[in-house]
Amino acid sequence: MATRPPDPPFALPETWATRTLPALRKALLAWFDVNRRPMPWRDSRDAYPIWVSEVMLQQTTVAAVVPFFERFLTAFPTVRRLANADEQQVLHLWQGLGYYRRARHLHAAAKQLVADHGDALPDDPAVWAELPGVGRYILGAVLSQAFERKLPIVEANSLRVLARWFASPLDPRAGPGQKWVWAAATAVLPDARIGDFNQAVMELGATVCTPVAPRCEACPVAKWCEAKRLGRQATIPPKAKAKAITTVAEVGVILHDDAAVCLFQRRPDAARWAGMWEVPHGEVGPGEPLEAAAVRVVRELTGFTPTLGEEVATVRHGVTRFAITLTGFEATIRGGSFAAGHYAQARTVPAAEVADYPMSTSQRKLLSEWRRPNRGRRLF
Ligand code: ADE
Repeated sequence: MATRPPDPPFALPETWATRTLPALRKALLAWFDVNRRPMPWRDSRDAYPIWVSEVMLQQTTVAAVVPFFERFLTAFPTVRRLANADEQQVLHLWQGLGYYRRARHLHAAAKQLVADHGDALPDDPAVWAELPGVGRYILGAVLSQAFERKLPIVEANSLRVLARWFASPLDPRAGPGQKWVWAAATAVLPDARIGDFNQAVMELGATVCTPVAPRCEACPVAKWCEAKRLGRQATIPPKAKAKAITTVAEVGVILHDDAAVCLFQRRPDAARWAGMWEVPHGEVGPGEPLEAAAVRVVRELTGFTPTLGEEVATVRHGVTRFAITLTGFEATIRGGSFAAGHYAQARTVPAAEVADYPMSTSQRKLLSEWRRPNRGRRLF
């Protein structure tokens, strides 16, 4: 990780350091002890499950993470088991969570840690900071919860809580506001129960200090909240700017014969979905008929010449700021031969084994629709 510029100095309001903060920490931790939601990684001080859970929680909610976390920990109960795992199995268990690069980073980091440190995960921030996929959030989350290291964390819930406690006028998601919020998160840390305190701030944001209609009447620290005193909870922090969404039309082509499908594996250095399997897909050009795009995409990406069959289904999905409409066709291979380039390899897979390959959710939907008996054309 590149050396980070220091956070700007954070001046606590005068009475906070001496009186407010000790009382606020005590009240918040007491509230957390009673109100914390049970989570399968919460009673552990073991860095490995905490790390896995925090990587998963970066992308979705606690409720959505729990089943993925449990399957992952059953398959890889220790960091060594993860380090020794096959990448395909890791991706397969991540399937459905999205952001597959995070899974590949977690796997690579596990290998590096086991090679350098054996089975015991280290508590040195400098070691963690060098690992792939470990930014300031993961570093603080893992080391504060597993080792009581005095490190702050900031994520979507805690930035809202901190902005409200101090009635900060800045947007804490970017620029000077982001620097401010990390400095604030550092300044409020206690000397003991640091991991619990970090979690309590997140938990308060997730369950009480919500983006819309915060439940100040249920808040254990409302009496010290500057935004509440000013009646400005609704406008602090300023709303995140809506992302501009670009719509994209894509076609995907299921090349198959009677019983088998041709799947292609993304190159390990691909920007997206590296190492995962898919049917060839690509964007439809302006004014290009879908059928023509389907034939072109197969030729360009695989080297095969298809004979196009029926349209199978249309799957809508979102990737970052793109809203993608993927229309699937089935096809047979008429000629040509596989040309590696866009893809690392091609493999003919019995239809019943397709589910064993790690694939994105939209690809899986398309293939399961193709396999559905008596399918009509469907829209998801
Ligand atoms: N969000 C991410 N990690 C969390 C944690 N440990 N507790 C509550 N919310 C979280």
